[in-house]
Amino acid sequence: MWFEVICGLIVYKIFRRFIYGEVDVPDVDAGGSEVSFIVADRLEKIYGGKAYVGLRIPDPETSSRQHIDVVLAAKKEILVVAVRNFSGFLEVGDGGNWVCTRDKKHKPENYPDPVLEVTKQVEILESYLELRGVSLPKGSLIGKVILPNPNCRPAYSIAFQNEVIPFAMWAELKSESKPGISSWIKGAFHGSKSETQDVWHQKLHFSLSTAPMWDRLEFKGDRKILGEFIDFKGNSDDLQALRQVNRSEVSQFLVQKPSLFDLGRSRLNILYYPRDYRRNAASVSELKEIAVKPSTEVLFQPLNSKKPRKFKLSSVASVSLSA
Ligand SMILES: *[C@@H]1O[C@H](CO)[C@@H](O)[C@H](O)[C@H]1NC(C)=O
Ligand SMILES: *[C@@H]1O[C@H](CO)[C@@H](O)[C@H](O)[C@H]1NC(C)=O
Repeated sequence: MWFEVICGLIVYKIFRRFIYGEVDVPDVDAGGSEVSFIVADRLEKIYGGKAYVGLRIPDPETSSRQHIDVVLAAKKEILVVAVRNFSGFLEVGDGGNWVCTRDKKHKPENYPDPVLEVTKQVEILESYLELRGVSLPKGSLIGKVILPNPNCRPAYSIAFQNEVIPFAMWAELKSESKPGISSWIKGAFHGSKSETQDVWHQKLHFSLSTAPMWDRLEFKGDRKILGEFIDFKGNSDDLQALRQVNRSEVSQFLVQKPSLFDLGRSRLNILYYPRDYRRNAASVSELKEIAVKPSTEVLFQPLNSKKPRKFKLSSVASVSLSA
């Protein structure tokens, strides 16, 4: 009987590989950026507007970059969100750190207070946007800490902080839900008198979409992670051709299987958009294409990971390169 089970598994794996290509996405998300994308998608669905994930806002005071998980620029509010996928019991420890105790087998882990972190992020983003000419009435940026993990059990001292959205609240969030649930988004925006709201929104979106951010790697099957694209790995002919696909020239490349008709070639196509070209219908003619061996790999360093990882091009859907 075990023999049949094992044979079945092997056949299944081969079959799966055959049908889908190699899409086994390795467990690379130590930096936890995937959960930011999931939270950002849901915020967009609930509140509308556009979510920006993985910003790296220059902080003149420390001359470093401030990482921000998610910024949602909705019609009436700008949310600055720290996403923490904590699982287990969560309490405030000595010195104000948050202490997460997963279970008896794991040692409690200490984390910097995310409410303090997001408060600082709000300040830094505020000065950055003002520097770029987006005038912000006081209090129009709202900092929130979202705890989206169903297994996160925060102590009262955490759950009842204004900035904190524990899982129970997160699960129930709706756009126009009862007061008390959505009232955490107060402080509706009032545009400055000198410009109309539309112009203001355009400026805001332009500033956020061109702000420094992490590169992002999207796998087939919609999983996305943040980090830094480093290079391609492959044979020298392909690498020579791929030199054009570099950060200064290209803002995004897509990976496509060749159409059914040229299956025989068994190459992968890399399609890319030249940088600074607005992606719209008119840019189709600007799309460029390079065919490479399917064994080509992408060298990418995930957020908070100590070393770069290699990913098979065949498991990649697209890579966006920040300027
Ligand atoms: C959140 O954490 C849990 C472990 O507690 C993990 O299984 C899950 O994959 C994480 N979610 C994301 C989206 O990373
Ligand atoms: C980037 O691409 C451009 C245009 O294709 C090329 O001229 C340039 O040498 C490339 N830069 C690097 C570092 O390879």
